[in-house]
Amino acid sequence: KSIVVLISGNGSNLQAILDACASGFIAGKVTAVISNKADAYGLVRAREAGSVTHCLAHTDYANRDNYDLALQQLIDSFAPDLVVLAGFMRILTPDFVQHFSGKLLNIHPSLLPKYQGLHTHQRAIEAGDTVHGCSVHFVTEELDGGPVVLQAKVPVFADDDAATVAERVHEQEYRIYPLVIRWFCQGRLQQQGQQALLDNEPL
Ligand code: GRF
Repeated sequence: KSIVVLISGNGSNLQAILDACASGFIAGKVTAVISNKADAYGLVRAREAGSVTHCLAHTDYANRDNYDLALQQLIDSFAPDLVVLAGFMRILTPDFVQHFSGKLLNIHPSLLPKYQGLHTHQRAIEAGDTVHGCSVHFVTEELDGGPVVLQAKVPVFADDDAATVAERVHEQEYRIYPLVIRWFCQGRLQQQGQQALLDNEPL
């Protein structure tokens, strides 16, 4: 299967996905990595792994509709089976989301539906949560609201700060994102509206 990954930054989740493709854990290939930021370190990771890279700067476009259409066309030029958001820090238009419906995955650093949006680790700490985590979900028009495929939990300790929690959550992200992508590439995972199905069973 052919995978296009969208990033904005460090790309440590991208790295986990590239490694899982290289080892054969994921029966797929990251054909292209696209960043909206030219200095995203993930672009270096992608080049080292032999993926095609593109920078599509949102600052070059007049508005979100124009940018998302250009992004859609660039992605379509690779005809991917799956589009993976891995720290892509932009809200996507409904048209874009609909175009890739059923083949658009995201990872979010919280136990959805808790803490949609930004600063999730800090918000979990401030709420006094003792359990936090991450979620892989299909992307729908509702921001961080699409059907969840898989979650992983981590403990939150009294002396944690956002950085220590983030590190703990990241370790789980590197585990669950490649696993979900593996399922997708095996043809076992589907989206049906607000429902994610694994082997035709609702998750
Ligand atoms: C991850 O924490 C992910 O959950 C969130 O953005 C972060 C990306 O980190 N969507 P990286 O670029 O993969 O290192």
